[in-house]
Amino acid sequence: MCGIVGYVGFQDCPLILLDALKRLEYRGYDSAGIAVIQNGRLLCHRTVGKLINLERLLLTQPVSGHIGIGHTRWATHGAPSEINAHPHVVDKVAVVHNGIIENYVALRQELEDKGTRFSSQTDTEVIAQLIALYLKEGNSFEEAVCNTIARLEGSFALGILCADEPETLIAVRQESPLILGFGEGEYFIASDAPALLPYTKKVHFMNDGEMAVITPTGVTLKDFSGNLLPYEVTEIPWSPLLAEKAGYKHFMQKEIFEQPRAIIDTFRGRIYPNKGEVVFEEFNLSQEEIKEIEKIWIVACGTSWHAGLVGKYMLERLCRIPVEVDLGSEFRYRDPIINKKMLLVLISQSGETADTLAAMREGKRKGAKTLAICNVLGSTIARECDYVIYTHAGPEIGVASTKAFTTQLTVLYLLTLYFAKRLGKLDEMKVKEYLSQLMVLPGKIEKILDDTKSIEELAIKYSKVEDFLYLGRGVYFPIALEGALKLKEISYIHAEAYAAGEMKHGPIALIDENMPVVILAPKGETFEKIRSNMEEVLSRKGRVIALTEPECQEIAAKAEDTIFIPPLENSFLKAILLTVPLQLLAYYIAVFRGTDIDQPRNLAKSVTVE
Ligand code: G6P
Repeated sequence: MCGIVGYVGFQDCPLILLDALKRLEYRGYDSAGIAVIQNGRLLCHRTVGKLINLERLLLTQPVSGHIGIGHTRWATHGAPSEINAHPHVVDKVAVVHNGIIENYVALRQELEDKGTRFSSQTDTEVIAQLIALYLKEGNSFEEAVCNTIARLEGSFALGILCADEPETLIAVRQESPLILGFGEGEYFIASDAPALLPYTKKVHFMNDGEMAVITPTGVTLKDFSGNLLPYEVTEIPWSPLLAEKAGYKHFMQKEIFEQPRAIIDTFRGRIYPNKGEVVFEEFNLSQEEIKEIEKIWIVACGTSWHAGLVGKYMLERLCRIPVEVDLGSEFRYRDPIINKKMLLVLISQSGETADTLAAMREGKRKGAKTLAICNVLGSTIARECDYVIYTHAGPEIGVASTKAFTTQLTVLYLLTLYFAKRLGKLDEMKVKEYLSQLMVLPGKIEKILDDTKSIEELAIKYSKVEDFLYLGRGVYFPIALEGALKLKEISYIHAEAYAAGEMKHGPIALIDENMPVVILAPKGETFEKIRSNMEEVLSRKGRVIALTEPECQEIAAKAEDTIFIPPLENSFLKAILLTVPLQLLAYYIAVFRGTDIDQPRNLAKSVTVE
């Protein structure tokens, strides 16, 4: 969703703003702009479409200055157009905004009644208009901002400039993420850490209700009534290189190939294979507290929801605790039955997804303990939950989630072993065995990544097809869902996934000689069942692409195409392994279709609105 950047310091800032915006491109956007104060004058440039258009405009109409704000907009109120793009400039004020002003219709009406003329259809413009009005009434810049904020309902992260105070940038956070970056004699604001990594790793994660007044001499943090607040500088552990493509064609490709490392980073330091033990520094319920958990809720959106579905299989199977998995957008509106004997697990790569965040707050309100499985340090969900277990995937830039998913599954696997041991469901020997199986997983993924030629060939063969069906059973069903999601997200091919046993209740009607059906058919307890499902597809002339293990030659003999995964005993880990060829298939099909893989149309990485 919208990305905000800002700069105050000694350097000429338009190129810094542009570079930082590029690093936020993955959040998804449809227009962009910057505003800079040049010799006391506010200059603003905005364009529709990709940042390259803004870059071109700045080449023909260059601006220069030591203070500025920038924005990538993902349209909510008003179509993607230059007029609706941010920054919104009214008189001497420029505003960039991420979030939604819920009472903007009433505010707009009130201002229009007073004779204000609006130039855009956005909710954001009311903010710029109000600040300009309060300035006209004789308030200082800071007072005008405070008066304005007091009128706003909804969510807003703001970056604000005023030509009357050409050395001051004001940043505000209320329910939309914003961080402050501290350099040497220069300061930054951004929606997300990757924007700032080349400039500084020292940040303060702003909290709701905070306003930062930033000048070249420093930062003053206040609440919305103007009272001083302390700030806490945190060092981001990510190297700037992790947010670069490093020779790969796309971030998504790089992130797929980073998975063996990301999984190792996620379990490293948390497992003691010789003792059969898992420990989490950030999550330390006592044995008694764990025994008291009557039910686990897992709530998430998108790919993270698929991880939750896999987690249900793991936790129920090994811990015998009932687990319910829900979508953030559903959970919050169905008055869920939840109480203090329940653990609510929120899975979110970004830690900022609005629906997941609202679900967390609902669960907390009802007394549940909350645990975040999250990738972004200092994100809202991570901070507001009682406990957090970070996935150590590093920054994920590609909009379609890959390494975040497999590291979420790794955490869920560790969490399952952690609970199972403390509940007495698994003894030390068994945990040792499960841990040693986990330790060989990265090597097995490497094997798949070492030779992707056959998957690339399949991708060419199927790249012109317009529909795909994915089938899986048991723990492989959510993996089928994730495979289909990857394909539709980045290639725009219609793909749906079904629990294979459910196929006969509907999707079977779609099967003919044109329909590719991806079937997850590894060895294991549901193997015979899935083999029958494959026969059902074959007898209707469907084109089977089977994912299986070398031992299952009978599958390969019947399928039109087969992708072999290296053998692995443990079905939970096999689910992680099977994910990788599905990611690669989607990726290469999208490459051959020539789509915008890292920023697919209409999608956003961090969905901070409902
Ligand atoms: C968006 C992204 C997905 C992601 C989902 C949930 O839709 O495009 O890749 O799975 O949000 O995001 P979260 O950050 O909460 O995991």
